[in-house]
Amino acid sequence: MNLGRGINFGNALDALDGGPRLPLEHRYFDEVAAAGFATVRLPARWSAHAAATPPYTIDPAFFRRVDAGVAAALDHGLRVVLNVHHYDGICAAPDEHRPRFLALWRQIAAHYAGHDNRLCFELLNEPRGELTADRWNAVLAEALAVVREACPERTVIIGSAEMNSPAALPALAVPDDDHLVATVHYYAPFEFTHQNAGWVAGAERWLGRTWGSPADEDAVRADLAKVAAWGRDRRLPIFIGEFGAFSAADMVSRARWTAFVRTEAERLGLSWAYWEFGTDFGAFDPESATWREPLRRALLGV
Ligand code: BGC
Repeated sequence: MNLGRGINFGNALDALDGGPRLPLEHRYFDEVAAAGFATVRLPARWSAHAAATPPYTIDPAFFRRVDAGVAAALDHGLRVVLNVHHYDGICAAPDEHRPRFLALWRQIAAHYAGHDNRLCFELLNEPRGELTADRWNAVLAEALAVVREACPERTVIIGSAEMNSPAALPALAVPDDDHLVATVHYYAPFEFTHQNAGWVAGAERWLGRTWGSPADEDAVRADLAKVAAWGRDRRLPIFIGEFGAFSAADMVSRARWTAFVRTEAERLGLSWAYWEFGTDFGAFDPESATWREPLRRALLGV
């Protein structure tokens, strides 16, 4: 499946305590569909809404919130990428959390079995830490098998280790399955995209970094060309599931970087989803209820 142009409803169903928060309002789906996006990625923090002990039951109230988001997207003719986001436990202690991670997917897959095939699953946002490439390859194969019990043909998105970095793509073991898409996240140069990001130690030192020299462009071109070649070799569609520059960077550079990454991705046939809709990277300003025009234009070109 080609996911086309997408946007993340980040910090909604995945919000962390004390962090930014986006209420998942119906009118935001109107905005996204009317602007011309084809896909929304719905990050969801299932691990914060499921029991800690077997059978690790997911809170029905959380399922209802996710259901509302999925239904709103489908009603607007959008494709949906639903993932497991911010599951720190599986990254810190994979052996201990593996049964719970698989139990989450067993419940999610059963719950959405028979749903519209425009709903796609993404197994885990940004595997990292102790969930090294080798361990992740094993866990992802098991999680895919669990999903396939209830959803034999639903598109499933699998990402590289090391926080879905393009550099870790060669270490991703791709299971034999006809309905896979591979994903990476693109935040390079990190010192530009994450300048002054509160959750990155030392990021205040990068404040003021701009982007747009010919060398900057060459670096993006080279990175994305490698990603595209990897996908071509394996006949796998590629989805850049997150890319974006934090609001502390200057808007001229943000728009330039966003437009460049987006057009280069499209030239190479890669689908993408901007990080994110309406909080700290926001392409949309919920206060004024308007798009940030330079970012909207960078993403959609019109
Ligand atoms: C995380 C966000 C973060 C973003 C950019 C996402 O995967 O969920 O909390 O803002 O990446 O770093």
